[in-house]
Amino acid sequence: MEIIIQSDPQSASQVGARIIAGLIKKKPDAVLGLATGSTPVLLYRELIRMHREEALDFGRVTVFNLDEYIGLSPEHSASYRHFMYENLFRHVNLNPERTFIPDGMAKDIPRFCLRYEAQIRQAGGMDLQVLGIGTDGHIGFNEPSSSLASRTRIKTLTAETLADNARFFDCPENQPRHVITMGVGTIMEASRVLLLAFGEKKAAAVAEAAEGPVTAMHPASVLQFHPAATFLLDEAAAAGLKKHQYYRWVYDHKPDWQQS
Ligand code: PGA
Repeated sequence: MEIIIQSDPQSASQVGARIIAGLIKKKPDAVLGLATGSTPVLLYRELIRMHREEALDFGRVTVFNLDEYIGLSPEHSASYRHFMYENLFRHVNLNPERTFIPDGMAKDIPRFCLRYEAQIRQAGGMDLQVLGIGTDGHIGFNEPSSSLASRTRIKTLTAETLADNARFFDCPENQPRHVITMGVGTIMEASRVLLLAFGEKKAAAVAEAAEGPVTAMHPASVLQFHPAATFLLDEAAAAGLKKHQYYRWVYDHKPDWQQS
């Protein structure tokens, strides 16, 4: 696991955007797994800047999003389809036919989930998956106790996640409790994983994920088993890490031949 600590969310997001841009330049038809929430907004802003100012080309890229609320239409302002459209899709040259987001309005959700998994497989699997982390350790919407081998399916949100995301809804009755999420097993098959976390509110979850025991009670901890997982943190989110100084030294002295 590589842990990159930057002074602020802006610089950490720039590091992430450079990694993604490098992948797209090397593999113009890359398959990206994308995330929503407050965390990746600066990352997407930097990718948009690179598209506008440096001609970063998304024309052949395919994207699969991690999750979506059940019962929200794509037009709903809190839906993740809407979020992705506003924060990335409408600003870059992604082909709409290659933007996949779970359909929270699907009539037969278990069947939809199987199809989503098949679509990921048909696309060749994710080259890189972007993740945030919940204060309860979730990745995607895989809440504590999620099977570490799980695939795309329905999950029920914890009280903690409901409270964390209440700000996106005008009243609690309108906040869905059920979601479709890629499974932990689905995420683990991505060739590379970039987990972003910012702010002191995430410090405990980050420390448990990187340095705690691997357990379904903290799903992000399974990334310790991923051969190419990178955590991109600001100082506040890194504050609980025991090996903080070591991670900083490693990154500051990373040999050129090891850069990615
Ligand atoms: P946030 O959510 O980026 O809004 O903090 C992260 C997550 O729940 O995965």
